[in-house]
Amino acid sequence: MATLIGVDVGTTGVRAVAVGEGGELLASETESYPLSMPRPRWTEQDPGQWWEGTRKVLGRVAAKVGDVAGLGLTGQMHGSVFLDREDRVIRPALLWNDQRTDAQCEEITRRVGAARLLEIAGNPALTGFQAPKILWLRDEEPDNFDRLARVLLPKDYIRLRLTGELGTDVSDASGTLLLDVRRRTWSPELLEALHLSSDLLPPVFEGSEITGTVSDGVADELGLPRGLPVAAGGGDNAAAAVGIGVVEKGLASSSIGTSGVLFAHTAEFTPDQSGRIHAFGHAVTGAYHVMGVTLAAGASLAWWRDVAAAGADFSALADSAAKAPVGAEGLLFLPYLSGERSPHLDPHARGAFVGLTARHDRAHLTRAVMEGVVFSLRDCFEIVRDLGVPVDQMRAIGGGARHPLWLQLQADIYGVPVTKVAVDEGPAYGAALLAGIGSGRLGGFADAAQLVRTLGVIEPDEQRKQRYDELFVLYRELYRPLSPHMRRLSEISTSGTAP
Ligand code: XUL
Repeated sequence: MATLIGVDVGTTGVRAVAVGEGGELLASETESYPLSMPRPRWTEQDPGQWWEGTRKVLGRVAAKVGDVAGLGLTGQMHGSVFLDREDRVIRPALLWNDQRTDAQCEEITRRVGAARLLEIAGNPALTGFQAPKILWLRDEEPDNFDRLARVLLPKDYIRLRLTGELGTDVSDASGTLLLDVRRRTWSPELLEALHLSSDLLPPVFEGSEITGTVSDGVADELGLPRGLPVAAGGGDNAAAAVGIGVVEKGLASSSIGTSGVLFAHTAEFTPDQSGRIHAFGHAVTGAYHVMGVTLAAGASLAWWRDVAAAGADFSALADSAAKAPVGAEGLLFLPYLSGERSPHLDPHARGAFVGLTARHDRAHLTRAVMEGVVFSLRDCFEIVRDLGVPVDQMRAIGGGARHPLWLQLQADIYGVPVTKVAVDEGPAYGAALLAGIGSGRLGGFADAAQLVRTLGVIEPDEQRKQRYDELFVLYRELYRPLSPHMRRLSEISTSGTAP
């Protein structure tokens, strides 16, 4: 039986998985690499280290499995790998969470127009996206910009090293601000407005299309079959969605990891006119998705654990929170510990407990933290609903799918049934399925979705849902009046006042 390999070029490391044609996980290998923060708000990585890590994990996976039929790529989105004419890396890549490009974002908005940018690219100019990074290189490192021949996304640099071919996919290209997302091709209008040449960019493929084959030298070195087809793949969230069967209308996913992601499949391109959530192409041929990202989801609980119960395990902490009442006796938590992306797009947002009394103990506060995280995802979900995107079922993934309280909170707060999936192996697994479709081992997206086994449905409880609906109204009202104070506090904290 054939094996499919998926490679995820993540932020903390690279992961390769081998998946059987029946969807079973055969092997998984991880290699980590450092994240460099040379200045505040800057994050960079050396693409050479991604490649070193990829070679190691692929070699180890290849040694464990046979009959490899296809390989798919996924990874952290938005990053910029700057290459010269000989495909040499010019400088470390700027990553998705790098914040240095405020001035370039303003320039993009001015040149293109905010409304037109949303219409074409599906998103406002956000600092993490790729186009402002190219303009930053032009402004701040003109010598490097003069040498620039190509800009690639992280996983597409690995494609180049594996196959010698240039290519990207629609979902990842959607995170550049240079794609005409509706038409799924680079936008001549955006390129012209920013004075950038289309020669800088690789050809765009659908996620399951084959973009080339592993070169003989690399195949021999890593123990992979010569001529192994490599599928375009997808950005990490789109690939993860494929891996859990979110490939048709009515399905969405709620991921609570370090950050939280609310992702919904859409048949049409559905940009949010206020840009509060992203509209991207999906890794599913011809489809799209909308997505909200809340920055401190599991990170909020991790912070709270470290503050209040250092050393406690998450499960014990959540068990205690399960005994506290719904709404934690009138206590709300705003989880903006790292600023917030969706829906506020506010780097100065700050966290808060609102409603503390002397009656509140650690269990109440833990429950409030968990409820606040799910409220912040519901904030994104409300925009998805406002856009008219139907969601009948939510698939829960990440750490938030591992405790019954997290699952029940999601069902009760979203007010829709929540499903847990049997294999939650993240983006690499979805990339392997995309390779299965591209190499003809899987019949198509519906066949790939058949491989995803679900482990029962958690229904919302009508009474709790009503309580949470009331509390959500209050939660939602808190940000706006507090935001000027949050901004001021953020400014005070960085102004370096001596004690
Ligand atoms: C998506 C996003 C992250 C990165 C890193 O917009 O910024 O999910 O892809 O994982």
